[in-house]
Amino acid sequence: MVKFSDEEFVKLRRVLAIYEWAMEALLTKLNIVHEDLREFQGKDAIDYIASRIKTPESIAKKLQNLGKEITAANAQNSLFDIAGIRIICPFAKDIYFLADILRSMPDVNILSEKDYVSSPKPSGYRSYHLIIEVPVFFSGKTENIIVEIQIRTEAMNFWATLEHKARYKYSGDIPKHLSDELVTIADKIAELDNRMFLIHEIISLINS
Ligand code: GTP
Ligand code: MG
Repeated sequence: MVKFSDEEFVKLRRVLAIYEWAMEALLTKLNIVHEDLREFQGKDAIDYIASRIKTPESIAKKLQNLGKEITAANAQNSLFDIAGIRIICPFAKDIYFLADILRSMPDVNILSEKDYVSSPKPSGYRSYHLIIEVPVFFSGKTENIIVEIQIRTEAMNFWATLEHKARYKYSGDIPKHLSDELVTIADKIAELDNRMFLIHEIISLINS
């Protein structure tokens, strides 16, 4: 197994602390949006928000796969998902609403977006991905730090978690009968998401 050298590991700890600060700052902004929507706007577009910092082991493995030397600088320059935030929403429509909110946030610079909701991956994977940059001010200087944001529905998340487990068990090579079944289920889940949304719309009309 590949590892950081002792010297690089010391540098990596510092780098990971900066990513943690960036992620915390962004989570604070998102929690404010979540609370405002829920408490004051009557629009519950977020179920919950999860976050994680990639482990040194996982960073080393990804750098190795990219054919890069295992250094803290390479981690910072080559990886976009050291800090990851996942926003889980009730319905697919909420995903676009939240992406709009992220685009309008000051101090949040969008570097790229991938819409795997309207264009699912061949695996069946659905989610909306944004790679963003946030400034972190510390000890007299500012650094722009990259954070990956994935926005998906609860149902998409349920599927992605199971598929990820399968991928892990089979070391990335899921047998065809299982991967075919996963694609079928992903399509069914998308259909259920839509049908549930229609019921939600009908209920909203009755209440208004
Ligand atoms: P990575 O090198 O894995 O980060 O992928 P990428 O650079 O091609 O970026 P992409 O936006 O396609 O995927 C980034 C992340 O989305 C992954 O790390 C996973 O968390 C998630 N993801 C992408 N594709 C799949 C998939 O087919 N199944 C599952 N379960 N998750 C996926
Ligand atoms: Mg990734």
